[in-house]
Amino acid sequence: MLEQDIERVLFTEEELKQRVKEIAQRIDADYAGKEPLLISVLRGSFVFMADLVREITLPCTVDFMAVSSYGGGTTSSGQVKIVKDLSEQIEGKDVLVVEDILDSGNTLSYLLKLLEARHPASIRLCTLLDKPERRTKPVAVQYTGFTIPDEFVVGYGLDYDEKYRNLPYIGILKPRVYGGE
Ligand code: PRP
Repeated sequence: MLEQDIERVLFTEEELKQRVKEIAQRIDADYAGKEPLLISVLRGSFVFMADLVREITLPCTVDFMAVSSYGGGTTSSGQVKIVKDLSEQIEGKDVLVVEDILDSGNTLSYLLKLLEARHPASIRLCTLLDKPERRTKPVAVQYTGFTIPDEFVVGYGLDYDEKYRNLPYIGILKPRVYGGE
């Protein structure tokens, strides 16, 4: 059972639903009259993205990109690899990048630069979780769900060693699971 590896629940399903709704309302207001293109950065953001788009009432489109930086461990290696690129051109579009977590900033600073070079009309970042304590590269973020301490979190799309993504809440992983004390 996945549950027994969780030390405590950080955000319940209800809390996540409520916060996602609030973010969607802000996006609806900020992009009124526009048709944003939401880009989900796989794999972690797939759950957040699915819930977020269903709370947005504006017409919008979606695309997906997969990058990898962590391997199987808990810290960023500094290497960012594009595993899957977008299916569509983004030139002239109002792009909103959707992430599950902003940690060192390594992935997003690289990705935002890469996307900016494709000349979108605008580009913004929406992250469900932000761990500002861990930042080593500055990243401008316009929509943040929750600012969290430096704990190892899983669930709601977030993994450890590719598991736990299917937990419907966000929980803190027991350190023994990843070889901590
Ligand atoms: C997570 C997250 C970001 C990145 C953030 O992805 O989705 O892309 O790490 O960390 P950073 O700010 O230190 O770069 P991960 O590499 O775990 O892959 P996943 O989305 O497939 O789980």
